[in-house]
Amino acid sequence: MAGSIPIERHGDVALLRMTNPPVNGLSFAMRAALDASVTEALDDDSVAAIVIAGAGRMFCGGADIREFSAPPPPGATLLPAVLDKIEASPKPVVAAIHGVAAGGGMEVALACHVRLAAPGTKLGLPEVTLGILPGAGGTQRMPRLIGFEAALDVIVGGKLHPVDKAVELGFVDERVDGDLEATAIARARQLAADGAPLRRASQLEEHLDAARAQPELFERFRKGMAKRARGFDAPYACVECVEKALTLPYPEALKHERVVFNRLRESDQSAAQRHAFFSEREVAKIPDVPKDTPTRPIAAAAVVGCGTMGGGIAMSIANAGLPVTVLESSQEALDRGMAIIRKNYAATVSKGRLSQADMDARLARITPTLNDADLGVADVVIEAVFEEMPLKKEVFARLDRVCKPDAILATNTSTLDVNEIAASTSRPEQVIGTHFFSPANVMRLVENVRGERTSAQTIATVMKLSKTLGKIGALVGVCDGFVGNRMLYAYRRQADFLLEEGALPAQVDKAIYDFGLPMGPYQMADLTGLDVSWRVRKAQAPTRPAHLRYSPIADRICEMGRYGQKTGAGWYRYEEGSRVPIPDPTIHDLIVRVSEELAVARRAVADDEIVPRCLYPLVNEGAKILDEGLALRASDIDVIWMHGYGFPRYRGGPMFWADLVGLRTVYDTMSRLHDEHGEWLKPAPLLKRLAEEGKGFRDFGK
Ligand code: 3HC
Ligand code: NAI
Repeated sequence: MAGSIPIERHGDVALLRMTNPPVNGLSFAMRAALDASVTEALDDDSVAAIVIAGAGRMFCGGADIREFSAPPPPGATLLPAVLDKIEASPKPVVAAIHGVAAGGGMEVALACHVRLAAPGTKLGLPEVTLGILPGAGGTQRMPRLIGFEAALDVIVGGKLHPVDKAVELGFVDERVDGDLEATAIARARQLAADGAPLRRASQLEEHLDAARAQPELFERFRKGMAKRARGFDAPYACVECVEKALTLPYPEALKHERVVFNRLRESDQSAAQRHAFFSEREVAKIPDVPKDTPTRPIAAAAVVGCGTMGGGIAMSIANAGLPVTVLESSQEALDRGMAIIRKNYAATVSKGRLSQADMDARLARITPTLNDADLGVADVVIEAVFEEMPLKKEVFARLDRVCKPDAILATNTSTLDVNEIAASTSRPEQVIGTHFFSPANVMRLVENVRGERTSAQTIATVMKLSKTLGKIGALVGVCDGFVGNRMLYAYRRQADFLLEEGALPAQVDKAIYDFGLPMGPYQMADLTGLDVSWRVRKAQAPTRPAHLRYSPIADRICEMGRYGQKTGAGWYRYEEGSRVPIPDPTIHDLIVRVSEELAVARRAVADDEIVPRCLYPLVNEGAKILDEGLALRASDIDVIWMHGYGFPRYRGGPMFWADLVGLRTVYDTMSRLHDEHGEWLKPAPLLKRLAEEGKGFRDFGK
């Protein structure tokens, strides 16, 4: 039965099995059930000891996150109280942990007197990733068990740790390779028979003394996490609560933890991060490609073109354990590409993040070739040659001839029409876009681009492949720039207009950085290079509608031979060997000149004008994309922006953020900007409709 904690009797040991598929989430009902079962076992004189375990795939994935959008109902059983009861139990309580113990699930285990775990178990306190903190004693018991520094790492890092690491750190007592439950039952019975004092985490003193001896520990930790935690509230709240373990008696510190937990739970940041959690799972669901759609087995892959993207894609595939053949057009290009791959791996080895043996194994999975026939082994081929339609068509026609008849042919194009590419083959249903983001071996996002004729099986296979590669695949439709870059254009365009109206690149970049993106548009352009989009703009120039405002500043910068960091100058200038952008008077003069030429009166642009002016149009473009059916859900767009562009997770992605701002506000501002600045800023019909109905993007399609 779902949502129950049945008691199984094993002689004088009561085994309480948390049962609430799929992750045994601790809903209000489950907490009440846990309390009832623990109380029953404690009250039963024939029970000498207790084992707590989980049913099905895991021990417990923590509190039921879906219940976090509202306060607990009146009279609800609160987890900290149940856990105090478990810890205080005079009868030994042993946690038998398998699969996963996360968050509240981990805290249940921390309240037990002994923690045993099966091999392969992952354990930790990931609450911080949801914008909250361990709210059932985790910030108090964990440091007492494993020490303050280690506990800060576990709590603020938010990772799930493999069982051996947990044993090493000390929050699991032992890994049990044999029968976990039988061992736990025997251990519990033995403890009861011994009658020795039970180890209660809340009463351990040793680490408190050690931490009191080095009070600077917390400040040092805050400084160390500052870059990673920029803009997030929860990591700082975690540190604060852990620190309270030193200054407040345990019961007071526990109360404090609860207060901070509730404050965070009610915050916009936590709502945004919970939205991110569910959106990342939702994005895999495609209404017309059901979960049971058969996929093609992928045993071997190939990549065509070993440049910036092809090399990174090949690395991702090799990293996932699959063999990959890499085809280039010349020995020179092949050698260059393979050398860069080797250099990238070697850099990871030298940072201590990869062993030499693993590097060798990964490299051994990559087979360079100049021979088309070698692609015959591949079940999927990803093309990453130059962004030129005639070349792509020629490559796909060749792939169609040499590849297995059932092989999937994917293109990494960032701007070209996937349908046109598919039409150059005899198997358009097996052609799809896989738009990786640069650097492809690092960035987690892949926009999987569905063509008109792409089959459900091809989509299902490529979505699964994204997961195999450790990526998040988001299914999008064919349009210029697909979802992410199309929205990026809308934002960048307004940033350029702001320069013409009076801002400077560093001012725009700072406002966007302060909003929470990793960098503003001009630093990003300098990083990725200015020349590629310049080439695209030149190609599009003859068909550009004359009535639409166009900023020539970027073109002028390219005409000066400034292509960004790679040429030592772009929107900024760079010292030799440095990546630090330095504002450059040459560019400022250029911008002022352009304003004069275009007869745009320069004015003081207020800092707080920049975010709405740049990001509302981005959201507006997202609304058009949704309306046109090019993204399945607003939350998919959020996933794309969080993982492809570093949109701050604590804002939940642009569409969620817009809902928080209120679509009425976004719409009214867009309408005003449209009146002031013309066509590009016209509010999308969907934005208008939702704003007028008092709805949000979250309501779209419901
Ligand atoms: N609450 C509600 N739903 C949850 C959930 C949770 N804690 N954890 C997972 N789910 C749901 C998922 O949304 C998914 O639903 P779907 O099938 O409808 O999409 C389903 O359970 C299966 O989840 P996954 O696909 O993620 O399953 P995996 O096996 O890949 O991963 C997991 C399992 C590692 C437990 C992963 O689900 C996870 O990381 N969950 C969240 C863990 C977490 O953050 N726990 C802390 C919660 S807050 C807390 O405990 C507060 C406490 O301190 C008081
Ligand atoms: P690149 O110029 O770094 O690499 C292209 C490679 O393709 C070169 O090594 C070239 O020798 C090889 N090549 C050319 N013709 C070939 C042929 N006929 N057969 C085999 N190899 C051939 O280009 P980059 O940046 O890697 O881009 C590749 C593709 O990825 C393009 O479609 C681009 O639009 C897309 N893309 C690029 C991104 C980026 O940030 N660079 C991001 C996302 C997509």
